[in-house]
Formats: sequence, C-alpha cells, structure tokens
Amino acid sequence: HPTNFQMEESSSLRPANCRSKGAGPGFKVAILGAAGGIGQPLSMLMKMNPLVSVLHLYDVVNTLGVMADISHMDTGAVVRGFLGQQQLENALTGMDLVIIPAGVPRKPGMTRDDLFNINAGIVKTLCEGIAKYCPKAIVNLISNPVNSTVPIAAEVFRKSGTYDPRRLLGVTMLDVVRANTFVAEVLNIDPREVNVPVIGGHAGVTILPLLSQVKPPSTFTREETEYLTTRIQNGGTEVVEAKAGAGSATLSMAYAAVKFAEACLRGLSGDAGVIECAFVDSQVTELPFFATKVRLGRNGVEEIFPLGPLNEYERAGLEKAKEELAASIQKGVAFIRK
Ligand code: NAI
Repeated sequence: HPTNFQMEESSSLRPANCRSKGAGPGFKVAILGAAGGIGQPLSMLMKMNPLVSVLHLYDVVNTLGVMADISHMDTGAVVRGFLGQQQLENALTGMDLVIIPAGVPRKPGMTRDDLFNINAGIVKTLCEGIAKYCPKAIVNLISNPVNSTVPIAAEVFRKSGTYDPRRLLGVTMLDVVRANTFVAEVLNIDPREVNVPVIGGHAGVTILPLLSQVKPPSTFTREETEYLTTRIQNGGTEVVEAKAGAGSATLSMAYAAVKFAEACLRGLSGDAGVIECAFVDSQVTELPFFATKVRLGRNGVEEIFPLGPLNEYERAGLEKAKEELAASIQKGVAFIRK
C-alpha cells in the first residue's frame, strides 16, 4: 500500500555493501507539503544548506519521486521521504525546524482568504502532529492565509498544552524580498544592499512596507511611495495573474523560505544579531499577532522590536492593516474554538 511506504535515500537502489553514512552535525528539518510548487524547490535549496544534516520530506502525494530526485544531490544532508498521514509521526519525530508550505494556492481573482476553508483544516492537522511528535520544534508557517493560519496553529498548540509563542513564526519574508527588489529598482542600486522592514501581516493592505525606515536611508516622493507600497502589497497577485491559473509564487517563495529558515537555524546555532521580519504572537500593537522585525535565537523569537517612527502615510496604512488583520486573526481563532 503506497501510504505504508517509507523511503530513505533510495536504499533499494544502492548496492548491498554500500557503506551507510550517518548524518553529520547540523539541524534536522522537515518540510510538510514537500511535493508542491513551493515544496520542491524549497526541498532542493534546503538539501544544499550546510546547516541541515537531515531533511524530511512529507506530503500526501508524490513524495517518492521528489525524495528520489533530491537524494541524488551530492550535498551533506541525509534525505528521507514520508507519504501520507500514517507517516507524519516518523516525518516529525526529532525535528528542530518544521517548514509548512502545504495547502492550495490562489488562482486569478482569489484572495488569500478564499483559501481559508481548505488550508485551515490542513494546517490544523499538521500542527496537531507537531504538538504530538516534535513540540519543541521551531515552526515556519507558509500556508495561506498566513494572517489566519498562524492563529490556528497557536490555538492548536495551546489546546495541546505545548504552545511556546517564540517557536511559531508566520513567514512574511517574501514581502521583504519583493520590497527589497522593487525599492532597489527605484533607487537604481543592488537589491542585496537594500533592507525594507515590512510589518503587519501577509495579505493585501495588511502588508505594510516601512519605506521611511529603508536601509540605506533613502527618501521617496509621494508618487514613489504610492507606487512601491501598492506594488509590494500586490506582488503576490502580480504572479498569480501572470501564471494565469497555474498557481502562485513558488520559486521566489522557496528562495524567501530558505532565507528565513536559514535565519532561524543561525539563531538556533547561537549566532548573535539575526534579525528578520515575521508574523508572530506579539504585543507591539493591541492585536494578538503582528509582523515586525524580530531577533532570532536559540529559542526562536528572542526579541520583538517596536514599529519605530512611522510617517503619516504609514500611520494611515497601519490603521487599515490592523482592521483587516483583526478580522483574519479572529477567523483563525474561531475555527479552532468553535
Ligand atoms: P501546491 O498546490 O503546488 O502545493 C501544495 C502541496 O501541499 C501539494 O503537494 C499538496 O499535496 C500538499 N498538501 C496538501 N494537503 C496536505 C497535507 N494535509 N499534508 C501535507 N501536504 C499536503 O501549492 P504551493 O504553490 O506550493 O503553495 C502552498 C501554500 O503556500 C499555499 O497555501 C499558498 O497560498 C502559500 N503561499 C504562501 C506564501 C507566503 O508568502 N507565505 C507565498 C506563496 C504561497
């Protein structure tokens, strides 16, 4: 039966006298939804990451092919594949970091909230598994709508008595990556030199780039500010429309997910001063969750930074963002408490 299939490094394809290689030093990372549009390039990039010693690929379809393919890459991480709910326990046991890109993506005309009905249930099931089998793992949640799935995950963990707000992070890195790219275009500089804090959440007007806090310090005309803010907020829709029914951002998302996961792993390994934006349990506003810059360390989120000084345009944007965010958070919480 296919769901009883557990795969490890294409073992049946290796000669019987093949010397088994143990995992080297590094972190154990699971990707849930590993066979998807994001999952596949994300799995490939994580297999290339020297901080990763063991990589568990889990999905409800096609994990065998992705695992066999990726396991041939001559990098250090040991890859194992897991297919279907019965193997979730083995996929999760012992993991330091769990990355979740499982769930359906948008099609043209859809908002991220339109994904709620399907993805809420998927995230709930996967987080119940995490609570049971690796309650100490750091969780990077990618599945949309992030503004609701993070509260769902928090409620699941709270219910099971395992909730540690420092270990649950909604991934908003793609908004930062897009902001850096678009701002660099306007400033005509290398995007690697640019850092744009993006706060709030991960959908439409809840995505709030703080152009007044861009590094290197820069000023923008009102027109540039409006163009950049709108483009950053609609970056996802730009890709959804260009793909015309074939899904949403996958390649740039995999890149952003790896950038974020690597920051989490560097924090876990004790690197000082690892700071990124993420959607987390937070008290910087009156809302229970909010994306801001956070410092990552051995326990996940070690410090949450305040919003910093906002200009008038940003203050107006913040009010709009909070209104929509409050409803999305409430929707997630209600899904579990109902
Ligand atoms: P996809 O449909 O290509 O892949 C999703 C994968 O999840 C599939 O392989 C599917 O089999 C798997 N899956 C479904 N139910 C599952 C379950 N119960 N357990 C494990 N795996 C399961 O979708 P894509 O493009 O990879 O997007 C995934 C999610 O990421 C979507 O919800 C999308 O909206 C979201 N996303 C989030 C972004 C962010 O910035 N946070 C950016 C882009 C997408």
